[in-house]
Amino acid sequence: MSFTIVGTGSALPAKIVSNDDLAQFLDTSDEWIFTRTGIRRRRVLTDERLDDLAIRSAKAALGDASLTGADVDLILCATMRGDTYTPSLACTVAEAIGSRAPAFDLNAACVGVLYCMEVADSFIAAGKAETVLIVSAEAMSKLLDWTDRASCVLFGDGSGAMVVRKGEGRLAGVLSTDPDSHVIRMPNYEGMNSPYNKIGQERLAMHMDGGEVYKFAVNAMGRNIEEVCRRAGITPADVDWYLPHQANVRIIDASLKKFRIDKSKVLLNISEYGNMSATSIMVLLDEYAKKGTFRKGDKLLFVAFGAGLTSGAVLLTWNRD
Ligand code: ACO
Repeated sequence: MSFTIVGTGSALPAKIVSNDDLAQFLDTSDEWIFTRTGIRRRRVLTDERLDDLAIRSAKAALGDASLTGADVDLILCATMRGDTYTPSLACTVAEAIGSRAPAFDLNAACVGVLYCMEVADSFIAAGKAETVLIVSAEAMSKLLDWTDRASCVLFGDGSGAMVVRKGEGRLAGVLSTDPDSHVIRMPNYEGMNSPYNKIGQERLAMHMDGGEVYKFAVNAMGRNIEEVCRRAGITPADVDWYLPHQANVRIIDASLKKFRIDKSKVLLNISEYGNMSATSIMVLLDEYAKKGTFRKGDKLLFVAFGAGLTSGAVLLTWNRD
């Protein structure tokens, strides 16, 4: 019970790539991609920097909260890889918003934002921060093998942000890891030219065993929903809005099926953006917050899985008018 969301924002690349666009250079089709995943199109970085998207979404969330960088006590960025290894994306955002707060990046793949929310909870509960800016930014298009039709069609680029402040919104959180270094793997040894290095270079692009990820995802999402509800003393039926990681509509449907939840409670935008890793949940939150979907007192459940293999869920009450 440590924080409340007081602002949200998002920023997406201008370039829209449809499934038909991909079929121009891959042996694939809109029909295959849409029926297997629910994805129609995604945003892809061209001449924009990921840093710039992160700064735009951070400023949007601060503006939404009527706060400035000077009000922030901690900046957390969820990303698998920013434009630079150092400075961190969080430090780059801090510079742009005029903040001198501690700032660091956190990599928990698609679950990064939930990990950041739990870190924010700990800082706030310990009295070390009152206002935390959480930013996610992912350039998935730069991590993919664009000749691998089984993986590159699934992802998109983007950034999202939220500002959380000390308050009574968060009801419970759960994070977990089922360590597996093979099922999803993205090596980062590029440019490694040390004359002392004796380790051969791995293939650089993302490798993914889609079937194994699918099985893990369905199981992990269901398990985390049950656990976070148990910790909050409610049942899955008591949740007003589900905000699941947007990796695949079939994974979302399969993991929620046993709870017999009214489908109108399950928020989706995967058709427009694909899987933006940590950013998916943030853009989903910002989109539906701006549409006025949430009412004060509504219970929102975030649930995600990702490379690592990581998973988690956070349950909170929406406290904004
Ligand atoms: N277009 C056309 N055909 C394709 C494509 C494509 N883009 N990709 C694969 N195929 C082919 C395969 O080669 C296979 O052909 P074959 O039967 O001749 O061998 C056939 O389609 C069926 O492939 P399956 O793998 O059985 O398809 P499935 O229905 O299982 O869907 C998918 C594959 C969509 C990848 C699914 O397994 C999935 O969503 N898994 C989870 C992936 C995920 O969520 N990753 C995110 C992890 S988080 C992170 O990475 C940060």
